[in-house]
Amino acid sequence: MHVFIKDIAPYVGEKVTLKGWVYNLRSSGKITFLQFRDGTGFIQAIVHQPSVSDVVWDDAHKLTIESSVIVSGTVAKHPKKEEYELQVTDLHVVQIAEEYPIGKKEHGPDFLLDNRHLWLRSSKQWALQRIRNTVINATYEWFNQNGFIKIDSPILTPAACEGTSTLFEVEYFDLGKAYLSQSGQLYIEAAIMSHGRVFDFGPVFRAEKSKTRRHLTEFWMMDAEMAFVEHAGNLEIQEQLISHIVARALAENRQELAILERDVAALEKVKAPFYRMTHAEAVKKLQDMGSDITLNDDLGGDDETMLTEKLDKPVFIEKYPAHVKSFYMKRDPENPSLALCADLLAPEGFGEIIGGSQREDDYAVLVARIEEQNLPRSAFEWYLDLRRYGSVPHSGFGYGLERLVGWIGGTHHIRETIPFPRLLNRLTP
Ligand code: 4AD
Ligand code: MG
Repeated sequence: MHVFIKDIAPYVGEKVTLKGWVYNLRSSGKITFLQFRDGTGFIQAIVHQPSVSDVVWDDAHKLTIESSVIVSGTVAKHPKKEEYELQVTDLHVVQIAEEYPIGKKEHGPDFLLDNRHLWLRSSKQWALQRIRNTVINATYEWFNQNGFIKIDSPILTPAACEGTSTLFEVEYFDLGKAYLSQSGQLYIEAAIMSHGRVFDFGPVFRAEKSKTRRHLTEFWMMDAEMAFVEHAGNLEIQEQLISHIVARALAENRQELAILERDVAALEKVKAPFYRMTHAEAVKKLQDMGSDITLNDDLGGDDETMLTEKLDKPVFIEKYPAHVKSFYMKRDPENPSLALCADLLAPEGFGEIIGGSQREDDYAVLVARIEEQNLPRSAFEWYLDLRRYGSVPHSGFGYGLERLVGWIGGTHHIRETIPFPRLLNRLTP
């Protein structure tokens, strides 16, 4: 009977068939050890010459790394550990792989990225994609349980959401230029006036000229937006969502986290409430650590690392100077030079995973912001309508999926968390 490796435990002593690939192998005398994987897990399959036919023994010796094969045999359990092995009785070769380019020696990142279509099979890459899948499902789960509905925002748009400097342009028939969306936020603001609480989840694009471990040109963003929620309530929703996602990864991805050598104890501490610090407090702290940052500056990647290196939980940095943030953010009534916003920084030096804010809901103020920033007002008329017809206080936020998976998986560079990364200098495979 065909079973998946993840379901093998109840079959100890029984005969099963596994379908998959050989990820490593070695022979000694009358025994061949196949390290075998089937997409759901890993197992050692043992071919013992006296227990198999000559044909099976010969076929076992034709196998190469990444050959595809169907093996049958009896399941045995490791006497001490929760590990299983297969004592092979039969073996059917599906395809003998050519000499596999990955794995013989240490490879540099460029080589691995050139071979991304194959690298995806490596155990760490396998683990990261499984965690990514958990994060996606946990996100849907939390929103569905908390009264949000999913609204799909467009990718082809007439104007910028997050500033014009990182827009990808495309020719759009007779209508001139269109831009690839940087965030669905403005569109889901429209949808909350219909549904109250909504989220979107899809690819977004930023022509980022930065070559850092935190930047991709195409990545997946989840934007959430809530009517009648103000700044403080916005942060509470974010910490609940992130706590839920981390708990799901801990529950479902123990094996994956072990493969990645992730410190699970650190993730176990990630429970709401998270820390809160104003931008001004963060600047003071950084200055005390020797930085020359000022109250007028945005936080850079290195600042975020310094602020979060010793933390055991994420921290919200609230109320940045308004001039470093987007036009749509509401100002702090206590100090109009500040935005009523927060970035959520993940601990252990990881840095920003969420950007969010309360939105400007007053028509005249928003018109003034659009004019101040020389944005094309005609492209924003529909957005201004939301402040003309039943405007309400509202807030929202967006996470970057690859950043979140990178932090949970403990991966240095987020390019490993997306199946096919798009970077400043990379468009293939
Ligand atoms: O902070 P950002 O720019 O916020 C927005 O786009 C808002 N419109 C979201 C909202 O309020 N609905 O981006 C949100 C998140 C960041 O915190 C980061 O995690 C991720 O998106 N991000 C990137 N991830 C990978 N590569 C990039 N170039 C990224 N830029 C932002
Ligand atoms: Mg941001």
